Amino acid sequence: KKYIRSGLVTVNGEVVKKPEQKVDEKKDTVCFRGNPLTYTEYEYYLFHKPAGCVTATEDNLHRTVMDYLTDTARHDLFPVGRLDIDTEGLLLITNDGALAHDLLSPAKHVSKVYYAKIEKTYYAVIDGVVTEKDVNSFENGVDIGEEKLTKPGKLRILKSEPESEIELTITEGRFHQVKRMFEAVGKKVTYLKRVEMGSLVLPDELAPGEYRPLTEEELQELRRH
Ligand code: URA
Repeated sequence: KKYIRSGLVTVNGEVVKKPEQKVDEKKDTVCFRGNPLTYTEYEYYLFHKPAGCVTATEDNLHRTVMDYLTDTARHDLFPVGRLDIDTEGLLLITNDGALAHDLLSPAKHVSKVYYAKIEKTYYAVIDGVVTEKDVNSFENGVDIGEEKLTKPGKLRILKSEPESEIELTITEGRFHQVKRMFEAVGKKVTYLKRVEMGSLVLPDELAPGEYRPLTEEELQELRRH
């Protein structure tokens, strides 16, 4: 608005002075300081969620994940799926509702091909010793106090002394699912981080609180997924 009021923006070569000026993004040429701007309908960001913020667009009490996206003026972005306030890691933020729906909607059966719900991999630290018995339990699905057992989860033990470090891949996204799966086998998650979602991998160089746009390859791969 400030730039428009100070005459730095033109539409089809004419300086505009009013921020409410409407444009047709397909026909009109909008320039800022003489340079043409391009319009993108959809934006996709890979965010490394830190602990202490909620996965919501608004909240009266806590910082939200959206508060971190300071470089975009878009108001229609939202997080795809949800991580608990104390969970860190990979979160996709976009305004592409159709892609979000495809990623979150339940498994489907289309012309004899079974599309599993997207896989999510978590790294966790567990208070207690995680055993091969737990690996088997997770493989068979565990009772987390709901009508149905969880779908099979792939549990890999990375370290087991003095506390355990594990990786767990699941296809569902039930409320507090990872924490409740460990509770079901009598263990407590003390740290939780999502490291993969479908074809997306949390990049090592992205620190908690940082984000970057998805690359074209990442987006194509996610769509193929
Ligand atoms: N499972 C949990 O318990 N919490 C999360 O944030 C994500 C998966």
